Amino acid sequence: MKALVVFYSYSENGDTAVISKRLAEAIGADTERLELAAPYPDDYDKVLEMSKQEVESGATPAIKPLKHDPKEYDLIAIGTPTWWCSMAPAVLTFMRSTDFSGKTVLPYTTHGGQTGNTVDDIRKNAPGAKVLSGHKFRLDAYGAESHATPDEDIEKWISAVKGFVGK
Ligand SMILES: Cc1cc2nc3c(=O)[nH]c(=O)nc-3n(C[C@H](O)[C@H](O)[C@H](O)COP(=O)(O)O)c2cc1C
Repeated sequence: MKALVVFYSYSENGDTAVISKRLAEAIGADTERLELAAPYPDDYDKVLEMSKQEVESGATPAIKPLKHDPKEYDLIAIGTPTWWCSMAPAVLTFMRSTDFSGKTVLPYTTHGGQTGNTVDDIRKNAPGAKVLSGHKFRLDAYGAESHATPDEDIEKWISAVKGFVGK
């Protein structure tokens, strides 16, 4: 099974980036980090404000061209931080511009305690795909360390995915 791990993470070594790279390495997948064509401003308060408006209005901001063609893969793992109880806008852009029919989609999200509709929203945006059950990892870099998902749970998930893709 040829697998592609597609993810968005607010920072280079953000929670979703770290877990996505671990998954990709374990299952021998290619990785695609989604990047906005016009990056968010440096002012974090502005990022919160802008992203809230984007998520609430279902905006699909332009993303940089992908390095891999999703058409060539059987399994597409989609990782996103939960933003305002849904997926980050760059992930919605990717999903709306990709044909998922006949593919298997593996959703997962990192969050700070409140995942809202993230996994469901990924499912709804993958028409024609077989969508596996979504995983939620509480890995909040912004202050939820004491309630973080234990590393062994992440390992268990990675092992299960490995089994699924036959690695
Ligand atoms: C703009 C923004 C919105 C967020 N909204 C939520 C939310 O609705 N629920 C939640 O549990 N965490 C929320 N978080 C926390 C992130 O989901 C969490 O820190 C995640 O692990 C960050 O992943 P990253 O480092 O890959 O970007 C938000 C963070 C940001 C920056």
